Amino acid sequence: MEIRQASTEKDKTELDQFLWEVLWEPLGFDRDVRKRFKLDSPQIDLMAFEERTLVGGLVAYYITDTEVEIRHIAVTSDMQGSAVGRRLVDSLTSFISGKQVTKLKVYARSTSEGFYARCGFRPVGERFEHDLFAKHGISIQPMCLEL
Ligand SMILES: CC(C)(COP(=O)(O)OP(=O)(O)OC[C@H]1O[C@@H](n2cnc3c(N)ncnc32)[C@H](O)[C@@H]1OP(=O)(O)O)[C@@H](O)C(=O)NCCC(=O)NCCS
Repeated sequence: MEIRQASTEKDKTELDQFLWEVLWEPLGFDRDVRKRFKLDSPQIDLMAFEERTLVGGLVAYYITDTEVEIRHIAVTSDMQGSAVGRRLVDSLTSFISGKQVTKLKVYARSTSEGFYARCGFRPVGERFEHDLFAKHGISIQPMCLEL
């Protein structure tokens, strides 16, 4: 498996479509729902390929010089549980190592909290409801990994 940064517009379009299909289409969200989660800060987009097929993606933002937030992570359904997600998080950690970043944050869906816990993240702050996810029985838990 190869993990690399999305560099071209074609990469970014492919990643956007992939995230839509894995993260939001199954919950019946609007096609442009991602705009609601967009932040105006520098971004890191990672793509995981298995024999040229996109099987995983991760979008993270620099919140400050010392904090990076994983905003989206997705693995294609037939590859979930095969360590693609862990390798994406490890690649992000390698990518930001040597910089000033000391903290990796995420607002985890309750359905993926176990994954983040296995990657070393710990809950921080109160669990909360988000209007888009509550009707699907999903709550949000802020989590953090100290680097
Ligand atoms: C959550 C997701 C990104 C994890 O990626 P993955 O490739 O399936 O996970 P990995 O195989 O790397 O799993 C790493 C560890 O976490 C565990 N794990 C993975 N998904 C889990 C989950 N949903 N709940 C509990 N544990 C989970 C694995 O069993 C593995 O445990 P191990 O350390 O004992 O081997 C992926 O399953 C996914 O895309 N899910 C649907 C979308 C989603 O929920 N995204 C996150 C939004 S916040």
